[in-house]
Amino acid sequence: MIPAETRRAEVAEILARHPRRPGELLAILLDLQETYHYLPQAALKEVARYLEVPESRVYSVATFYKALTLKPRGERVIRTCLGTACHLRGSPAVLERLEEVLGIKPGETTPDGRFTLETVNCLGACALAPVVVIGEETYGQMTPEKVEKLLREV
Ligand code: FES
Repeated sequence: MIPAETRRAEVAEILARHPRRPGELLAILLDLQETYHYLPQAALKEVARYLEVPESRVYSVATFYKALTLKPRGERVIRTCLGTACHLRGSPAVLERLEEVLGIKPGETTPDGRFTLETVNCLGACALAPVVVIGEETYGQMTPEKVEKLLREV
């Protein structure tokens, strides 16, 4: 857990990189997301104060874009495809193994903050089904047996 003072200083630093214009809202939120892997509530209040916009406006942008999240996320997001091609080739079993090894369900983050597990409907790599994406890397032809080794290596 980051102490409130440290976080406040960090947020102030991020804000200082941006001109004080309402049009900077999305860019600031993306910066915060990259730093914290989610948008802490206290930081959103600071953003509203800095840009002199209502908090409701900050929240509506923060909840509109898929790249932004209000829920804490891990350093790495694991996206397991459950689209048709992946489903037919066994992705539910891969997901089940990921859940077992990580001890979390889709939408949750491991207590150490390392991983967040998500499911998606198609990653556009159906020829590699079943597919798992960790961060920017795509892993094809996944099997439940490969899960533990993969998690050790990322
Ligand atoms: S269905 Fe999984 S990548 Fe398309």
